[in-house]
Amino acid sequence: MTVPTKKKMLRVLAGEKQDVPPVWIMRQAGRYLPEYRALRATAGGFLDLCYNPDFATEVTMQPIRRFGFDAAILFADILLLPQALGMELWFETGEGPRLTPVTTRDDLVKLKGKDDIHAVLSPVYETVKRLSAELPQDVTLIGFAGAPWTVATYMIAGRGTADQGPAREWMYRDPAGFSILIDLITEATIEYLAKQVEAGAEVIKLFDSWAGALGGSCFEDYALKPAVRIAQELKLRFPGLPVIGFPRGAGGGYIKFADTGVFDALAIDTSVPADWARDNLQTKVTVQGNLDPMLLVTGGDALEREVKRLLETLGDGTYIFNLGHGITPQGNPENVEKMLRYIRG
Ligand code: CP3
Repeated sequence: MTVPTKKKMLRVLAGEKQDVPPVWIMRQAGRYLPEYRALRATAGGFLDLCYNPDFATEVTMQPIRRFGFDAAILFADILLLPQALGMELWFETGEGPRLTPVTTRDDLVKLKGKDDIHAVLSPVYETVKRLSAELPQDVTLIGFAGAPWTVATYMIAGRGTADQGPAREWMYRDPAGFSILIDLITEATIEYLAKQVEAGAEVIKLFDSWAGALGGSCFEDYALKPAVRIAQELKLRFPGLPVIGFPRGAGGGYIKFADTGVFDALAIDTSVPADWARDNLQTKVTVQGNLDPMLLVTGGDALEREVKRLLETLGDGTYIFNLGHGITPQGNPENVEKMLRYIRG
């Protein structure tokens, strides 16, 4: 298959293998970069970066300028959507996100509807528009959202949790009420992502960071079905739009995602063996992943060895080089340079 674009990332998503795979890294704009830390200090805080198109555009561009990645990911956060749905959101320094939790059906009634989110989110669409004009011609622009389950875990607990306990508890205790929340997030996410695409996002990625916490039929009901609904509806509205799924921690559940035929690529987390992904996923979809982010902290021989191992294992199929999860604040930009040299030669 040939694709009329010089963008490596779009070509591989259309099923065209590349001799040197496209590469970008999750959280590529972030605290491991001194230029990010400097701008964030000027902006005030993380949310001030997200909602200011000047800052958000600049921060998205920083890793593109420094490293020449094949894709840029919009600088925003999965928790902006709950905020647009009417929840309070703030970030506690050194601790992470906080929201006023939604814990009962009565709380659900207070949330806004799927069509009422755009006033809050319009600066994000403006950022996408600017990026789409400013990015180099060979760089692909990725828009994103959290998958409904992962977003729900933060909305229900009001913060990150180790085991997503509060959300899992509501899910089993009151499945009908819980489904109202999942459906609301699902439909709002479609409207949010549709606006990103209209503004210029070329690929959409859905982050289901806590998919691995869903057992039994809940994995299908709350991770698989909402992701399929979102991807199908977006593809209906924007024919040919590539969608990347990231059901982190799903294990064998990755096969269910691949079997739907709806996703153009699946991002695999660090726990997925690359040869298993080659044999079970890459036969059906493009695979993205899954270098251990810790190797960008440590560097050394292990970095070179693991990069080469990934290229040898997945490089014969349609493959996007990435990490298994986001780069951490301790990541060393010099190790990112090394990683790119090992990939690109
Ligand atoms: O560069 C990029 O990847 C694009 C921007 C992006 C951010 N968050 C910026 C961010 C993306 C795609 C996300 C996704 C996101 N946000 C996820 C899914 C992916 C994952 O990591 O599992 C989740 C669960 C969140 C929620 C969130 N945002 C948490 C739990 C935290 C605090 C923990 C942390 O890593 O700091 C954030 C803050 C956040 N989102 C930062 C950035 C750059 C750090 C903010 C700062 O202090 O400067």
